[in-house]
Amino acid sequence: MSAEDLERAKARMPTDLDTSKMYVDSVQARNYAEYRPRYSEEIFKTMVDYCKETIPDLNLCVDVGCGSGQSTIGFAKYFKKVIGVDISASQIACAPKDVSNCTFKVSSAEKLPFVESGTVDLWCSGESFNYMPQKQTFAEADRVLKPGGTMAIFGYSVLKSTEKPIDDAIKAMFLKLLPYWPKESLSTFEKFSSVELPYPGWYRLTLRDYMGLIGSLWSSVAYRKAHPDEDLMGGLENSCGIVGGTVDSKYTLISAGSYLSRVRAPPPAPWRDKGPESLR
Ligand SMILES: C[S@@+](CC[C@H](N)C(=O)[O-])C[C@H]1O[C@@H](n2cnc3c(N)ncnc32)[C@H](O)[C@@H]1O
Repeated sequence: MSAEDLERAKARMPTDLDTSKMYVDSVQARNYAEYRPRYSEEIFKTMVDYCKETIPDLNLCVDVGCGSGQSTIGFAKYFKKVIGVDISASQIACAPKDVSNCTFKVSSAEKLPFVESGTVDLWCSGESFNYMPQKQTFAEADRVLKPGGTMAIFGYSVLKSTEKPIDDAIKAMFLKLLPYWPKESLSTFEKFSSVELPYPGWYRLTLRDYMGLIGSLWSSVAYRKAHPDEDLMGGLENSCGIVGGTVDSKYTLISAGSYLSRVRAPPPAPWRDKGPESLR
C-alpha cells in the first residue's frame, strides 16, 4: 500500500473501537487459527540471537497478544518455558495443547500476575502491540523483564502478489477494510516505527541518519582519502539521498518486522534511567 493510500485512509479509520474485543468471536478465532500465516524461522532466530547477547542461557519467554499461538510455538525450542498470553479466551482455546513447554493464559498485556518480577528473558508481541494500551503495557513488561532482557515487537508485512491484477485486487480490498480497522492499527502498517519508546536515551535511527553518522566519522574520511574511487557503503548512501540521490529514505536500520526487537529494555531502575551506555 502506498504512503498516499495510507494517508487517505487514515482519516476514515475509527478511533472509538474497543481493541480488546476484536478477537473474541469463537468462529473467527477458529478461522484465524487455520488461516493465519506462520512466521518464518528466521524471525524467531533473529530475536533469540539478540537475547543471547546478554542472556546466553534462555529460560522464560512471554508472548503477549499471542492469538492462537502462531507467534508462540516458534520460541519453544529456544526457551525452557514459553507462556502465550491473550485477552481473548476464544483465541487461547484454539492454541496448541501438545507443545510440552508452552502454556497459554487468558490475560491482558497490562496485567501478568502469573509472571514473577524480573524473570522474563524475552517479552514479545507479534502483530498485536497496536491493540494494547502502550503506557501500561511497557510498565508491565518492565516489571517482568530481567535486567538485560529483550522486548520484541514484530509483525507481518501487508501481503502482496507478483501478479499485478491480483495485487490490485488485494490493494482495493484493503482500502475497503481500512475504515473497519482501529486507528491504532496504523502502527502495524508503519511497521511499528511510530511507537514511542519510553526509555530515556533510546532512540530510533533511520538508515539515512545512520549513513550520515558513519560518513561523519574520522575513519570514513580517512578511508575516502585512501580509496577515492571506491564505494564505502555499497550504494546505500545513494539510495538514502545523501550523496546525489533523491530519495529521502525513512527505512529503519532493522529489517521488516523486527524493529523493536533491537530495543533492549533495561529494567529495573536505577540503571535503566541511565540509558544505553549503562549496558555497555
Ligand atoms: C492480530 S492478533 C495477533 C495474534 C498472533 N500474535 C499472531 O502473530 O498472529 C492480535 C491479538 O492481540 C490480542 N489482544 C488485543 N488486545 C490485547 C491486550 N490488551 N492484551 C493481550 N492481548 C490482546 C487479541 O485478542 C488478538 O488475539
